Amino acid sequence: MKLRMPKGLFLTFEGGEGAGKSTIIDRLHKHLSNLGLEVVKTKEPGGTPLGSLIRNLLLHLDEKISPKSELFLYLADRSQHVETIILPALESGKIVLCDRYTDSTIAYQGAARSFDLELMKEYCDFATSSLNPDYTLFLDVDPNVGIHRAKKQSAGFDRIEEEGIKFHQKVYDAYQHLIQKEQKRFLVVDASQKQDDVFHLVLEKLSPILEKQYDVSI
Ligand SMILES: Nc1ncnc2c1ncn2[C@@H]1O[C@H](COP(=O)(O)OP(=O)(O)OP(=O)(O)O)[C@@H](O)[C@H]1O
Ligand SMILES: [Mg+2]
Repeated sequence: MKLRMPKGLFLTFEGGEGAGKSTIIDRLHKHLSNLGLEVVKTKEPGGTPLGSLIRNLLLHLDEKISPKSELFLYLADRSQHVETIILPALESGKIVLCDRYTDSTIAYQGAARSFDLELMKEYCDFATSSLNPDYTLFLDVDPNVGIHRAKKQSAGFDRIEEEGIKFHQKVYDAYQHLIQKEQKRFLVVDASQKQDDVFHLVLEKLSPILEKQYDVSI
């Protein structure tokens, strides 16, 4: 598939478990919509009907999923998501807020499952026809703190969250590596602070970008 040239703004949100991605996306979605901007809030895995089924398999199936099967399930979810949700929204000029994307695959499936990172990137490019985010907000928090927050929130832990702290540290280190490689795309925010403060830091980072593209002051 040849990549079409979208005119919207593609923002992804990354970070470990409990970093605060969903919280920030919800607030940002409300805030930007109230300013009259057209915003699509979506997530991976599970942003489409097919994706919800895949998400259920990935997180709750009562069978050990092999690392390669896991990778291809994530990529199937993403491919459907890009084709049916993300690209159409971008083509009509909307802002897309996406909870996890390719960086999650590279960090989780690549680093923590010991797959080759370059190969992971190639697979992701194939699945997305090389649609990359314009910017990626990385919510930076110590994995121990994130896990503690996530544990407090949910009684039943899903399969990925149940991995040990070593796994989550590897994921965090992989994210740091990605950030070093693409410093322009990543907007890193200290997510160890209070929710309101994190939200204001995110607005600060996005302010010049939205002002330039949509001529709006946030
Ligand atoms: N800055 C913060 N300080 C303290 N608690 C927070 C902060 N941000 C979010 N939380 C709380 O931490 C929990 C996890 O937040 P949230 O669900 O937004 O994280 P997440 O990054 O989406 O996690 P996951 O990867 O598991 O989906 C929630 O109970 C949320 O209310
Ligand atoms: Mg979340």
